[in-house]
Amino acid sequence: MIARMTRRNFFASTLSAPLALAANNTTGLAKRPFRYAEIEAKIAKRDFTGIFKEDLPTPSMVLDKAMFDTNLKRMSDHCKTTGMTIRAHCKIHKSVDVAKRQIGLGAVGICCATIAESELMVGAGIKNVLYTCQPAGKNKIWRGITLAAKDTTFRMVADDPMTVELLDEAASVAKIKPIVLIDLYSGLTRAGHATGEPGLRLAKLIDSKKNLRFGGVMGYSGSASHTKGFEKRREKSRLDVGPVVETANLCRTAGLNVEVVTGGSTGTYNIDKEIGLTELQAGSYIFMDTLYMNIGGKKDALKYGDFLPSLSVMTTVISKNHANQVTIDCGNKAMLKPTDQVKGRPDVVVENQGAEYGILKWKDGEELKLGQRVELYCSNLDTSTNVYDRYYVTDGERVVDVWPIMGRAGAVQR
Ligand SMILES: Cc1ncc(COP(=O)(O)O)c(C=O)c1O
Repeated sequence: MIARMTRRNFFASTLSAPLALAANNTTGLAKRPFRYAEIEAKIAKRDFTGIFKEDLPTPSMVLDKAMFDTNLKRMSDHCKTTGMTIRAHCKIHKSVDVAKRQIGLGAVGICCATIAESELMVGAGIKNVLYTCQPAGKNKIWRGITLAAKDTTFRMVADDPMTVELLDEAASVAKIKPIVLIDLYSGLTRAGHATGEPGLRLAKLIDSKKNLRFGGVMGYSGSASHTKGFEKRREKSRLDVGPVVETANLCRTAGLNVEVVTGGSTGTYNIDKEIGLTELQAGSYIFMDTLYMNIGGKKDALKYGDFLPSLSVMTTVISKNHANQVTIDCGNKAMLKPTDQVKGRPDVVVENQGAEYGILKWKDGEELKLGQRVELYCSNLDTSTNVYDRYYVTDGERVVDVWPIMGRAGAVQR
């Protein structure tokens, strides 16, 4: 959304007190000094009264609470109707506050992409955390085992017999019996054991181990999720995830307890049940990004409107020296991408310019002005949310809460 830069907005939002005092009195700047430190002090005390979006620093992430709540409710209703469970993926948000709200609306647990995210969520008391990336190497194996010792509902995946052997060995030392699922190939070559008989053998291996408990089957198709067009997406899901479900059936026939067949995504959430998954790992549905907005829906071939774009990056126009073009304070460091979109201005083109600079260009239409706030929808939630400290939760123009993004940045390196 483009917030119009009025004199009142400008006075209230852009100047620090010393600068205001130095400015020409005829502009009225001195009458409305703005002290950013006071805003920070209020936020630290969790007092959000009188804080508005125009007071916030940029670039920053702002979350429309009403849209976010709608998205949570829509997915929750979908799960109630279909009988599927959801173990929502936290790689999208990396926030304990968001995870707790997902659990509050019926999610059975949370998926994590990294061991550090898992430590964050388990440490916050979230139950039934699934670490969706196989723990490999001494550091991750032991940290996984430590989490399982702390919380018996924590679970891991394995796509290799070697991981099963190492987990069993470490579990015997720790005197625990962690839950381990098989991770099967489902169209993405990044991970996943072969489906069919090889998959069954891996499941049997886990089940045969004294110190491990077989927890079911996982198969996530990241290419099905973003396939454009509902029918094409359905076809790709059948192709990629069908063999995963068949392998789960082989396991059942062999007498293994397949507690869950987990996978799926925001793009395929209304397809995954018919394919045979019992549990959704969807994540992006809470915020939405521009890649998802353009995959096409079941009813509308051009627009995917099942979930609302609740998250945006708020930026400021910091230079205006060319016609139909401005510079914003959001560049590579803020994960700006040419596939980002300007809220309320689909005609505006986004371009990278440098670490701290982004360029917006348009042919005609309303001018953007120096100091004006411009909100962008980001293209990839995982990476964008990773470079911000917090979500500013908003109700219209008011800031009503601040949720820290505790699983971000530094956590990746841990
Ligand atoms: C293993 C796994 N499951 C689920 C998801 C969630 O998908 P989405 O955010 O598209 O809903 C992802 C996302 O990358 C993933 O890697």
